[in-house]
Amino acid sequence: MKKILFRTIVVAVSILSLVLIASCATDGSQSGDSDGAYAKADLKLGGLLYDKWAKVRNLETAGNHPLYPALGKKKGGDTFRCKECHGWDYIGKDGRYSKGSHYTGIKGLYDSRTKSPEELYSALTDTDAKHNFSKHLTDSGDIWALAKFIKEGQLDITTALGPDGKAKGSVSRGKTLFDSNCSRCHGEDGNKLDFKGDKNGVQGVGWLANDNPQESLHKIRIGHPGSAMPSMIVERGLSDSETVDILTYSLTL
Ligand code: HEC
Ligand code: HEC
Repeated sequence: MKKILFRTIVVAVSILSLVLIASCATDGSQSGDSDGAYAKADLKLGGLLYDKWAKVRNLETAGNHPLYPALGKKKGGDTFRCKECHGWDYIGKDGRYSKGSHYTGIKGLYDSRTKSPEELYSALTDTDAKHNFSKHLTDSGDIWALAKFIKEGQLDITTALGPDGKAKGSVSRGKTLFDSNCSRCHGEDGNKLDFKGDKNGVQGVGWLANDNPQESLHKIRIGHPGSAMPSMIVERGLSDSETVDILTYSLTL
């Protein structure tokens, strides 16, 4: 009888200590990852923040970002978007933004995926640097989500698009995936929702895919800030090559 009582006490004490450890882990305010904040971080959220964090968090920005170069053509809120300096294709000055109105000369983050979560966290929160985003994104969970996207969410754009800009996937596999994952919202022809660009007519999935395949692929993989669109890699569990198939089919719409 005594033995059972003793065992019950041991089990109760172990459960109590586990609960205590778990409750400490919910404080994600430190920059170290001792609390597993990186493991808990949400990759989809990170990709949406990379796209347009001010929209996701409903924040205002003033003027141009302090790191936005004088030679750049953009102004205001756009200059604070990660994608504006580091690119939709994650290779900044070496990719789509190597010339034209989005040129900044800033490198992409694809190679930074080999850095540790803590190094990425520091790059975004160093209070002495102009690159400190923690003054806007005050929830450390958002910073860890960005670190997660950088480490685990980027794709090697050369596996998706050739140097000629042609998509490398399969149109027929893409159609099957589009019909089951996209057409309910975007219509079978991709034109049910009008993205309202600056041209005439409906600007749907096919229009954007042709206008900007790099941006389209990011949206297909991650989703679109402020919308109910699911992330194909996080919520639908598709592989990168399946998302490239969807892009390849989208170009035919
Ligand atoms: C106005 C331009 C600009 C914006 C906006 C911007 N960055 Fe940067 N970022 C830079 C520059 C410049 C560097 C330094 C690049 C270098 O070392 O050549 C940098 C470096 C980094 C690094 C360190 C890379 C490494 O390997 O050392 C990370 C990580 C990073 N940025 C992530 C982000 C994220 C995430 C966002 C959005 C929240 C963002 N950046 C927004 C300009 C920008
Ligand atoms: C649950 C509904 C839903 C599903 C499923 C969905 N989307 Fe979306 N998608 C949206 C909404 C809503 C928007 C925002 C449209 C807007 O801003 O006008 C959007 C935006 C987009 C955009 C970006 C438009 C822009 O303005 O930048 C692209 C590209 C896109 N979707 C493609 C797809 C593709 C391809 C699929 C399938 C892999 C898909 N979507 C699945 C609802 C959905």
